[in-house]
Amino acid sequence: MNIIEKFSKIFHSDPAFRIQVPGRVNLIGEHIDYNGFPVLPISIPQTIMVAGAARADREIHCYNTNDSFPASTFELSHSITQSSPGNWINYIKAAAQSLVPLLGKNPHGLNVLFHGSIPRSAGLSSSSALVIASALSLLAANDLNMDSLELAELMAEGERYVGTQGGGMDQAICLLGKKQNAVKIDFFPLKHSFVPFPGEFSIVVAHSLIRASKTENALIEYNRRPAECRLAVAILNSVLFPDTPIKRLGDIRAVNWSATQGIPGERFINKVFLQDSYTLDEISKITNKTIDQITQKYLLMRNGNPMPVPPEGFLIRTRVLHVFTEAQRVEDSCTTLFNNDLKTFGTLMNESHKSCDINYGLSTPELNTLVEIMISNGALGARLTGAGFGGCAVALVKDSDIDAFIKDVSNQYYNGYFKKVHSELPVPSNLENIIFSVKPSLGAQVTLL
Ligand code: GLA
Repeated sequence: MNIIEKFSKIFHSDPAFRIQVPGRVNLIGEHIDYNGFPVLPISIPQTIMVAGAARADREIHCYNTNDSFPASTFELSHSITQSSPGNWINYIKAAAQSLVPLLGKNPHGLNVLFHGSIPRSAGLSSSSALVIASALSLLAANDLNMDSLELAELMAEGERYVGTQGGGMDQAICLLGKKQNAVKIDFFPLKHSFVPFPGEFSIVVAHSLIRASKTENALIEYNRRPAECRLAVAILNSVLFPDTPIKRLGDIRAVNWSATQGIPGERFINKVFLQDSYTLDEISKITNKTIDQITQKYLLMRNGNPMPVPPEGFLIRTRVLHVFTEAQRVEDSCTTLFNNDLKTFGTLMNESHKSCDINYGLSTPELNTLVEIMISNGALGARLTGAGFGGCAVALVKDSDIDAFIKDVSNQYYNGYFKKVHSELPVPSNLENIIFSVKPSLGAQVTLL
C-alpha cells in the first residue's frame, strides 16, 4: 500500500497534497553555519514523505507509517506545549508554532501521514526534514506559499523549540537542493549558490552504528560548541574590537583585523587566544564581565538553566582554529569543485575530518576507524558528516569503484572492527540502509493532488 492509500485508510478521505523533503549530507563546513560562515551540503534521495489534507478546525492529527512513532494530536496555537524530550511530535510542533503567526485568524489544522526513509540519529538531518515537511504541509493546508529562503530562516529559528542551538544549514538544504550540484549556503542573511558536483563520482554514506541523537547526551555536547564560539566572540571583542564588536566569528571577514583581512589563520588565533582552555573566572577577567553576566548572556539552555561547565574548561582556542580553518576549506572546496580537481577536494575532506576530531571534539573512535578504512580502500576523501558525536561518515568515491568499495568497507568495518569492539551491539544483517551511495538530489517537492 502506498502512502496515499494508507492516508485514505486512516482518515477515510483522500489526501489533498503529497510532499517530499530530502535528507542531506554535508560535504564540508561542519559547525560553522551558526558562526555565520558558508557550508557546502547536498540533498540526498532519502526523504521524509507526507500525505496530508486541511482540516476545518485547528487540530493537527499526525500519523507515521513506522509504528515506533506513535500517532498524536495537538492544536495550533501561539504557545504549543512540548511533548516529552525525544518525541517525534516536537519537530512538527516546532514548525507549527513558528508558522502560526503567518496563518491568519482562522488557520486550518491538518490530517497528516509521514513516511521516512532517512536513517535516524545518523547526522543526515532527518529531524530538519521533518520540520520542513511539517511546515510545507501547514502552508499547503492553508493555501499559502512562502519563499524558500524565508521559510528556511524561519524554521532554523523554529527548530530551536526542541532545544538545539543549531545553525541554518539543514533547513536550507532541504529546500534548496539541486541534482548534480552541491549548494554553497551562506547565512545572516541566508544566501546560496550552486557548485557543480562531478557526474562520475558519488558519496558513499556509512553509519558508524553509534547513534548521534540530538535529544540525548549529544544535545549537551552539541550546544556547548556554539556556546564556546560565543565566548570566543566575547574575548575577541574585548581584546580587539571594544568599539565595533562583532556578533559572530564569521563577522570577522568584515572588520579591519589586518591589512589583508579575509579569514584569519593560526598566527592570529594564537595572538588573541593565549590559552587552550579557559575557566569562567578567566573569561570574566578578560571580558570585564561578572560570571553571572557571562552565564546569562552566553551559557543558558532553552529551559533557562545554565549549561554545565566542562571539567576541562572551555576549549576556546581550538574551537576557533577549527571554525576559521574549516571556513577556509569550504572556500577552497568550491574552487576545487569548479576546477574538477577531485583529488584536492578529497584532501580537504580528510583535513576537515581531522579538525572536526582534534580541534572541535566531534568524532568518536568508531567514526575515526570508519574514515581510516574508507581512505585505505581508495576513497579520495572521507569525513564525518553532520553534528558528529556518532552518526555517519561519508566518502568521495568514483562511480566505477562503488560496489567493491562498499563490499570492502562493510567487511572491514561492520563485520570486522565493529563486531570485535562492540560484541554487545547488534550489526544489522541487511546493510542496505547502513552503507549506501548517493548523488546530489532535488530539494523539497510539493504536489497538489
Ligand atoms: C547540525 C545542525 C546544523 C549544523 C550541523 C553541523 O546538523 O542542525 O545547523 O550546525 O549540525 O555542521
